[in-house]
Amino acid sequence: MGAYKHATAWKIRIPFADNVLSAATKAKSRSPARAQTVHGQYAALSWRLSRCCDCRYSHAMSTYTHQRVASTEPRLFIADAARPQLLLDVCPVHTPTRMASASTLASEIGVAALDLKMESERMGLGSFKALGGAFAVAQMVRDHAELSLGFWLPPDATCSDAVLELAGDMTFITASAGNHGLSVAAGAGIFGATAVIVLSSTVPEEFAQRITDIGAEVVRVDGDYEDSVDHAIALANTNGWQLLADGSWDGYIDPPALVMEGYTVLAQECRMKFEFSGKWPTHVFLQAGVGGLAASFAAHVRDHWPVQPVIIVVEPDAAPCLQASARAGELTRAPGPVSNMGRLDCKDASLIAFDSLHRDADVFVSVSDQDAADAADRLTAAGFGTTPSGGAGFCALALGKIDGIDSQSRCLCIVSEQD
Ligand SMILES: Cc1ncc(COP(=O)(O)O)c(C=O)c1O
Repeated sequence: MGAYKHATAWKIRIPFADNVLSAATKAKSRSPARAQTVHGQYAALSWRLSRCCDCRYSHAMSTYTHQRVASTEPRLFIADAARPQLLLDVCPVHTPTRMASASTLASEIGVAALDLKMESERMGLGSFKALGGAFAVAQMVRDHAELSLGFWLPPDATCSDAVLELAGDMTFITASAGNHGLSVAAGAGIFGATAVIVLSSTVPEEFAQRITDIGAEVVRVDGDYEDSVDHAIALANTNGWQLLADGSWDGYIDPPALVMEGYTVLAQECRMKFEFSGKWPTHVFLQAGVGGLAASFAAHVRDHWPVQPVIIVVEPDAAPCLQASARAGELTRAPGPVSNMGRLDCKDASLIAFDSLHRDADVFVSVSDQDAADAADRLTAAGFGTTPSGGAGFCALALGKIDGIDSQSRCLCIVSEQD
């Protein structure tokens, strides 16, 4: 149609396609509440389906080579790191995370180089998630303040007394597998807002303790991650709280778009490092839960990196929702058992993440719990301590599942959380 509308005050452009994707409706059928979240304040998403007819299947290895789908539609989130970087520049605890050169592991695997981006060291929160939820809280607080005060706020007024007073009345709620909840709790704490984090019974108690230590309230629900998402939506609707999920679905995209915008700092830091060294990776491995990290990194690469790598999305065998969606050409649920990759154990992909990865990713691969545990042990023994979730990207590389990787390949993996 070519018609666009600015969605709320976050200035994210959303295409109004002619046909609402029926698959999105299917994906949310398990959770009708997701269709009507947050008092209608977010623009409804109409999403044009692009089918990927040229895909090749490789069932035996759970590896799927994807034909990237060209699109002239704008992305549904901002893949540029300018806004989150502006806030980070005034954050006293922020420094870019280390990019480690793992030369011994590289020669064991048989590749020319292996760079590990150590998100385990991110801002004292222990994962890249620190970049997303906290940034989204800051933007939502700013937006609320601008609407209430009736004028535009310069960036250095974000923590002014007037803004903090308004933020004090805000309550943010989200479901989390752990790290996103930590980030939202930290962001709310900075502004004196309230944070309520819903954790399923599968999330380790250590996360609940760390979240309450930051000052947020934890609500426990029986069941899996998807049950905690449904519960957070219900609480948000009942209480009029701000839902700040990291996943997105039909009718709910603006807050998760902010979360993903925050993550782009990670890809920008990598770009600056490679610009300096001139040694660009040929292959990038990105582990995925709902897909926010993988999509934001991949989009930043496609839009801003001068040298383009092969992008590989890695998921648990127990929850390959992005691979299933890419195979089907539409959002597709991937039910399965509970995975030891707890932070990646999401059975439903994020709508805007899939929309973007559909354009940007080259390969989708899934790894087993045992292989991920072995990979985490191997990384930890080499001095890069992490968990099966945090080492899943490396796991896919180490397994040798990807065609075209050889002794000339330069690989980048994200160590996405601390052990
Ligand atoms: C350590 C870690 N790695 C990767 C991911 C996957 O991120 P996403 O859910 O955005 O795909 C998460 C999500 O919580 C995580 O905590």
